[in-house]
Amino acid sequence: METLRHIVLFVHLIGFAVLFGAWAVQAFGGKRQFATIMEYGLLIAGIAGLALAAPWGLPEGAEPNYIKIGTKLVVLVVIGALVGSGLARQKRGEKITPAVFWLVGILTALNAGIAVIWR
Ligand code: HEM
Repeated sequence: METLRHIVLFVHLIGFAVLFGAWAVQAFGGKRQFATIMEYGLLIAGIAGLALAAPWGLPEGAEPNYIKIGTKLVVLVVIGALVGSGLARQKRGEKITPAVFWLVGILTALNAGIAVIWR
């Protein structure tokens, strides 16, 4: 069970890498637009994250930090709303504002920071 949990964590990290990597390509040298693949990264990170939120495959006596997990879920929902509405704007031929674009990168980095620093 512990190995399976590590595999789900691996999938969670792939989702994060896809989301943040796609954003970074756009931020540094790209057109600063959202890419559809960011939604897939978000979906992968979200589903794997929810699976990790349940208390299974943990070492004896360990308990998930539900306040931390809840905070990450809220941040993920905000990222999803920003990326979703941004992609819809782009489809209509409109540009996304720099604030929305940078916020998505900052919030994604924030969630990774919360994951590794908050114990
Ligand atoms: C953009 C969104 C997210 C990012 C960038 C992210 C990032 C990360 C990273 C880097 C880790 C590895 C931490 C470690 O093993 O020390 C991790 C672990 C984890 N994530 Fe996420 N995550 C996101 C969303 C979520 C969501 C929505 C949930 C649950 C609702 C979640 C639940 C967890 C859990 C339970 C772990 C493993 C235990 C822990 O270290 O807290 N994550 N996440």
